[in-house]
Amino acid sequence: MKVTVVGAGAVGATTADNIARKQIVDEVVLLDIKQGVAEGKAMDLMQTASLEGFDTKIIGSTNDYAKTAKSDVVVITSGLPRKPGMTREELIGINAGIVKGVVTQILTHSPKAILLIVSNPMDTMTYLALQVAQSMGVNKKRVIGMGGALDSSRFRYYLSQAMGVSQGDLHANVIGGHGDTTMIPLTRLATWNGIPASRFISKEALAKVAADTMVGGATLTGLLGTSAWYAPGIASCSMVEAIIRDEKRIVPASVSLNGEYGQKDICLGVPVVLGRNGWEKIVNYRLNKEEQAAFAKSADAVRNMNNVLST
Ligand code: NAI
Repeated sequence: MKVTVVGAGAVGATTADNIARKQIVDEVVLLDIKQGVAEGKAMDLMQTASLEGFDTKIIGSTNDYAKTAKSDVVVITSGLPRKPGMTREELIGINAGIVKGVVTQILTHSPKAILLIVSNPMDTMTYLALQVAQSMGVNKKRVIGMGGALDSSRFRYYLSQAMGVSQGDLHANVIGGHGDTTMIPLTRLATWNGIPASRFISKEALAKVAADTMVGGATLTGLLGTSAWYAPGIASCSMVEAIIRDEKRIVPASVSLNGEYGQKDICLGVPVVLGRNGWEKIVNYRLNKEEQAAFAKSADAVRNMNNVLST
């Protein structure tokens, strides 16, 4: 099995590192447009193999797509990250050009690959990647955006802090758009070992957890001066793992909706079953009126952004 990671920056290299250490594929190709960077990071990572105890081969490539041929999964992280004060949406112009070019090249060399889109604004980039992929004959179930997996891990982090419990015992998901104002942390459905979180902390505390989750990325960007990479890297890796190992795991991810959750012609975060064929099924959470309204509002915001693509 082979995975390509496009973009050998902070998120791409961390994703490749995690995939290599988990030994879920034989080969990881790291590709970047900057001369030598992907080769350098691949070599650096390969020099951790004897210390970490893995045999995954990591190959670097400066824009040579022939090296990515016959990849099973391709993670696309190429593009600009946010700087403090920027929204993910402000990246649209530059990243759209990058994502379009990359998807075309990738599918020319790996027509059967499953695409995992990470570049921001992620829901719009996934929508764009889907359009390119469909024009090249790719099934919509093979195009997936990574956002909900990360936002949900941030949700569980803030929830565990508020409740004083282990993150591993929490079940809590974020759906909707991957934006500070568009994501929807589902506090009503958050549980600690199956028991609603609302039984342990007040309504106000839960609302604060949701608010902190929504600006979780911006908080890190403020601290780091650029966007985060550890959690984005492992979130991407965990989705690759679910696909490669055909785990049938439920993960919130941005996928093409055709009436599900009341939306059409949009890629937006919903819980999906991930397996060897990509996103195999959308899971229908029964949202209450308030959550449905939030989802519709989130869709409107993402749709507005998608419209920028055609201007
Ligand atoms: P970075 O700047 O560290 O790395 C981006 C890399 O992409 C650079 O090495 C650059 O040379 C490369 N690149 C640019 N154009 C390229 C092209 N045409 N072909 C190949 N490589 C190209 O940025 P970082 O922090 O790794 O973030 C990458 C993207 O992921 C950003 O758009 C960021 O906003 C997004 N992101 C998304 C998350 C999510 O949850 N979906 C979480 C974190 C970041």
